[in-house]
Amino acid sequence: MSNVKFKVQPGGTIKGRIRVPGDKSISHRSIMLGAIAKGTTTVTGFLEGDDSLATLKAFQEMGVEIEGPEQGNVTIKGVGLKGLKKPNNPLDMGNSGTAMRLMAGILAGQDFDCELIGDASLSKRPMKRVTDPLRLMGAQIETSEDGMPPLKITGTGEQASLKGIDYVLPMASAQVKSCVLLAGLYAEGTTSALEPAPTRDHTERMLNGFGYPVTSEKLGDQQMKASLKGGGELTARHIDVPSDISSAAFFIAAATVSKGSELVVEHVGMNPTRVGIIEILKLMGADIKLENFHEVGGEPVADVHVKYAPLKGIHIPEALVALAIDEFPVLFVVAATAEGQTVLTGAEELRVKESDRIQVMADALQAVGVDATPTEGGMVINGGKQTPQTTGIQSHHDHRISMAMTIAGLNAASEIIIDDCANVNTSFPTFIELINQVGMQVDVI
Ligand code: S3P
Repeated sequence: MSNVKFKVQPGGTIKGRIRVPGDKSISHRSIMLGAIAKGTTTVTGFLEGDDSLATLKAFQEMGVEIEGPEQGNVTIKGVGLKGLKKPNNPLDMGNSGTAMRLMAGILAGQDFDCELIGDASLSKRPMKRVTDPLRLMGAQIETSEDGMPPLKITGTGEQASLKGIDYVLPMASAQVKSCVLLAGLYAEGTTSALEPAPTRDHTERMLNGFGYPVTSEKLGDQQMKASLKGGGELTARHIDVPSDISSAAFFIAAATVSKGSELVVEHVGMNPTRVGIIEILKLMGADIKLENFHEVGGEPVADVHVKYAPLKGIHIPEALVALAIDEFPVLFVVAATAEGQTVLTGAEELRVKESDRIQVMADALQAVGVDATPTEGGMVINGGKQTPQTTGIQSHHDHRISMAMTIAGLNAASEIIIDDCANVNTSFPTFIELINQVGMQVDVI
């Protein structure tokens, strides 16, 4: 991969009204569910990023006719639960953990063999978290010795099917929950996934939207249990993908931390399992108003109206961690500008994302002169000072590190250069265009 660098000029005021691309989680699922539904599914607002395109291509390689994407429009001719064809080659999931883990659930229930591979980062991510429950369901699935990709899945054969399980997730993970539920479509009896804390529930909402009943119940304080019965059928539908709150987060953060800023980010997905970023920023003192609240295809959306506000450090409530799991790189950058100390705990999962986001962000923040100390499950940041140094930042090919450290430029005294930014295309191909449009000065070199 070529070394694309971002050169970020310090300072700037964020102004304007923008729309960011479609939600990555919903885009992946629109292809997966559309492909295994009966009938033709149409999608608008599809994210044309490398991750969701990897999912789209994988289903084409399994014989599904898919048109587009063209300006976010995709048409999927569904083949039904059992209509996928054996692909000729290993399916390449690129950088996408979501694609690999969710597809493992669908592919474990097919009667053909196949292999899932990924790029260097994905090839170092843990897959035991999905192979454990899939094996309990009767799937035959191999990983590398240390539980990492590639995943080699042996088909169930024409007659057999998986068996339903009640699975207790060892960690709060929507990818694991979704993998189990998707395999459950192919299982005898009921399959349930019990999670220790609520995680994004797009799979449950979308399956229900495709006419496949999934029940969700809250057990106790935090636990959530989602269940479905195998052997049903999904019915094609239209999906309008809202803008990705995880992409909007960089702009919401940018306007919050730079004096004189005022920005509206339109049509942002406001699923209650995704809004941790807004709640955490508000606890820190951010001026954020949600306007024009409405619903599209079972998902709440709103325009996010943000103005600059002076922030204070907080201890981030652990109950919000899973609801903001992808936003911590940029939240660390925000914390570096806030007066006083910000402490994050209970976020061990950040260590197994596209990079080790605790270590990589601590290194990046320290490199620009921020007082940031990594801990096992989070970070301690003493914020409130302008960052003094001009230096090279390593993003470790992690899209969210590249974008978060771009936002750090707003509080920097001098230019920042960020290494290895090509992977911004996995989730947000128009990031540079939009960040320059709202008032930063960032060059790709
Ligand atoms: C995702 C779930 C999250 C998130 C990822 C997308 C999904 O991962 O980090 O970017 O679409 O289900 P975990 O569920 O593993 O925390």
